[in-house]
Amino acid sequence: MIVGQVSTMTSPDLQQMLQDLDTFIQNLMTCESRPVVGLTVSVVKDGQTVFAKGYGQRDLQTGQAVDNRTLFGVGSISKSFTSALLAAILGEREDVSWDTVLTDILGPSFRFRDQFRTEEATLRDLLAHKTGLENHAFAMGAGQDIDRSGLARRMRYYRQVYPFRTFWHYNNALYTLAGHVAERLTGQSYEALLRERILQPLGMDDTVYLADALRDEGFSNFAQTYLTYNRTGLSMPYSEEEFRPLKLHLPAGGVVSNALDMARYMKFHLSGGRDTAGRLVVPEDTLRQTHTADFTAAPQLDKLEPYWPVEAGTTQGYGLGWMAGTYRGFRRVQHSGFVAGFASLLSLYPAASGGVYTSVNGPYTAGVASDIHEIIHGMVGDILTGKDHWLNATTACTYPEPWWTRPEPNSTVLPEISDNFPRDKRDYEGIYGNHATGNMTITLNTTDNKLYFSLGLIGRGLVLPTVFDDHILFRCQGPLAYVPAFGADVGQKDGKVFSLTLQSDSSELPVVFERGLKLTDPDPTEPQWYDCACVSASPDRTALSYTFTFLLFLAYMFTV
Ligand SMILES: *[C@@H]1O[C@H](CO)[C@@H](O)[C@H](O)[C@H]1NC(C)=O
Ligand SMILES: *[C@@H]1O[C@H](CO)[C@@H](O)[C@H](O)[C@H]1NC(C)=O
Ligand SMILES: *[C@@H]1O[C@H](CO)[C@@H](O)[C@H](O)[C@H]1NC(C)=O
Ligand SMILES: *[C@@H]1O[C@H](CO)[C@@H](O)[C@H](O)[C@H]1NC(C)=O
Ligand SMILES: *[C@@H]1O[C@H](CO)[C@@H](O)[C@H](O)[C@H]1NC(C)=O
Ligand SMILES: *[C@@H]1O[C@H](CO)[C@@H](O)[C@H](O)[C@H]1NC(C)=O
Repeated sequence: MIVGQVSTMTSPDLQQMLQDLDTFIQNLMTCESRPVVGLTVSVVKDGQTVFAKGYGQRDLQTGQAVDNRTLFGVGSISKSFTSALLAAILGEREDVSWDTVLTDILGPSFRFRDQFRTEEATLRDLLAHKTGLENHAFAMGAGQDIDRSGLARRMRYYRQVYPFRTFWHYNNALYTLAGHVAERLTGQSYEALLRERILQPLGMDDTVYLADALRDEGFSNFAQTYLTYNRTGLSMPYSEEEFRPLKLHLPAGGVVSNALDMARYMKFHLSGGRDTAGRLVVPEDTLRQTHTADFTAAPQLDKLEPYWPVEAGTTQGYGLGWMAGTYRGFRRVQHSGFVAGFASLLSLYPAASGGVYTSVNGPYTAGVASDIHEIIHGMVGDILTGKDHWLNATTACTYPEPWWTRPEPNSTVLPEISDNFPRDKRDYEGIYGNHATGNMTITLNTTDNKLYFSLGLIGRGLVLPTVFDDHILFRCQGPLAYVPAFGADVGQKDGKVFSLTLQSDSSELPVVFERGLKLTDPDPTEPQWYDCACVSASPDRTALSYTFTFLLFLAYMFTV
């Protein structure tokens, strides 16, 4: 039997393998192909923290090293904190379950855009990403100056990308809403609840919240993140301003922790919801349901043969804040997290009573940021389940090659910038509103005679004309300056500039901002329940279709 085989592993064996793991990771940190600034790793086995170590640097400027207490943002691994917290709350109440309809908790004033979702949507639909509603990545990336009840109110303006419960569509805002559900069930803030119900009982005393780093002097032993880094020492750090949107979205991606605390968190999940003293923090059954595949997740790159020499990871589906699947035939429960330059992964191997957590502080490169995690998690999976390793020092550096070559990302094609706007710059000035996102403001700076935009908490920069009269570009300055420029269609009404339609990538809908819209104005589509599966995109956009990376990029910040 699998479990028997694993538990026969003797302690000296394990010690030797963990020493080999250390050597393996040290080698990984020197791979030419993959410069990593800093890395933190913890491994648990049979209720013990058997490995907790830092590698590389937590800050290139000060040269401080990462240790096993250096704080890293866990990104979307925070989603499992939200589902665990809800499991704790549901576990002690008879009147609510994963399948309670949201309006029974949030009250009759809570609504989605359509009647069907409003009457049917449950906590489970939020947590398993089943609503099919838009993600509003623009709002997420730029940040919104609202609280969680404000977000709950704005939910009625979120349009559908897919019909209800038909397609897995990852959604950060709905996890924040789930966090708000916990607030409404208890009358306490999410911040206080998570600390009282999960972090304190588990002894996760170093664990904090990302937005709090902005206060005072920030945290001590906190890793700086990097967008770019190479061995010549050239690097581009992220701005801490990027943490501001995470105040609202703590339940979706704002937890900050270290290797030792995350080991406590893994032991909690592997022990059926117990703290280190064996006391039940969350009912075992309720917690187990969060680990169980509930909905078929969008196909990711499943690491099945023929590419790979072993079954290196298969997805079964998404649970409640967890991706359930297998690795080399063993059950694996996993979640990744990307936030403000931190990239993390947590894997539980329940049959082996073990788990591994890793996080890096940069550089952020799509794919590359997740390779290092996959390599280490595979290695630890092999150790925990008693299998021979299929990666060696050479292939650990070349991974995913020689087995698979990552396709080059499609380059962003933006329209050419022109010298002049087709109309007076003052015509563009104004406040443009969107019910779900908030206001976008355009102002003319009379000193330098340039148009500037501002969106949300941290979105700001230049407005530029293009060779197309009805298309402008936004180029971010400040904390989001690394984001590629993004475009908008300019709509007119009575000869005046009236609307700005932000293009999105194919998985999201274009976002329309209208001049002078007050957030209290009725949404033009609101009077009737909105039942149409098709959301009208901006008019006349067929001629220009840009491969668009901005939303994709922001979406990456939190994706699984
Ligand atoms: C954490 O790191 C310290 C040294 O920084 C080390 O003494 C300790 O053993 C480590 N903890 C674990 C569980 O490995
Ligand atoms: C490091 O980055 C700089 C600037 O981006 C670049 O010119 C240089 O070639 C890079 N060096 C390596 C070894 O990649
Ligand atoms: C590493 O693994 C690859 C592929 O499995 C193999 O071709 C290579 O010979 C191995 N290298 C070493 C040094 O063992
Ligand atoms: C690039 O674009 C093509 C055509 O739109 C698409 O099929 C392909 O999946 C894209 N590649 C990537 C890496 O996104
Ligand atoms: C206008 O532009 C000038 C020059 O770039 C700058 O110094 C000034 O702060 C800007 N004013 C406002 C209100 O942004
Ligand atoms: C958005 O702008 C409108 C004016 O167009 C204003 O009435 C409203 O208060 C603004 N909303 C926010 C949240 O700033």
